Amino acid sequence: MCQDGIMHALLERRSIRRFTPDPVGPEILGALLEAARWAPSGLNNQPWRFVTVEKREKLDELAGFTKYNKILISSTAAIAVFIDTEKIYHREKDIQSIGAAIQNILLAAHGMGVGSCWLGEILNRGPEVGKALGAKENHELMAVIALGFPFEEELRGPRKRVPLKDLLIGSF
Ligand SMILES: Cc1cc2nc3c(=O)[nH]c(=O)nc-3n(C[C@H](O)[C@H](O)[C@H](O)COP(=O)(O)O)c2cc1C
Repeated sequence: MCQDGIMHALLERRSIRRFTPDPVGPEILGALLEAARWAPSGLNNQPWRFVTVEKREKLDELAGFTKYNKILISSTAAIAVFIDTEKIYHREKDIQSIGAAIQNILLAAHGMGVGSCWLGEILNRGPEVGKALGAKENHELMAVIALGFPFEEELRGPRKRVPLKDLLIGSF
């Protein structure tokens, strides 16, 4: 197992908000969905559902639903992640599972040199996004992941994290 590789990837990954015009393409999108599908989920419930977006007009339409519109306008693909509300067995656990699937997508994308940004603010317009993407009543939006090849400058600059000493609230 390449433990170092995974650690390296998760320390190196960062949100990318500006992308080059090069298309991500269906092959990479397929690989990202495959990564998502193998995430852990409570009871192996796999409550996630996906819509992929590559069409320029659709990406621009999605941009209209978030104040972070520039990210989607710059992106060349996106994956909308939904929860199937008819499949829910425990809302918190199912949503945690979806977070794991999303993280798998971000890390897999990073491993392929593809930049990503997890968009949550767009949930304020979740039902409208669902409608625009042809989702059914039982599909509730959890996130949109903007994708594309990163602009060089996006790979620089500091990344901030709370120091571990402030996070570790117990040690026995
Ligand atoms: C649940 C969630 C929602 C997020 N929503 C947005 C968003 O709407 N717009 C945005 O630009 N970034 C969004 N982000 C990205 C965070 O801002 C980013 O992950 C955080 O600042 C840490 O930076 P890093 O991803 O580069 O490590 C979101 C991240 C998460 C996990």
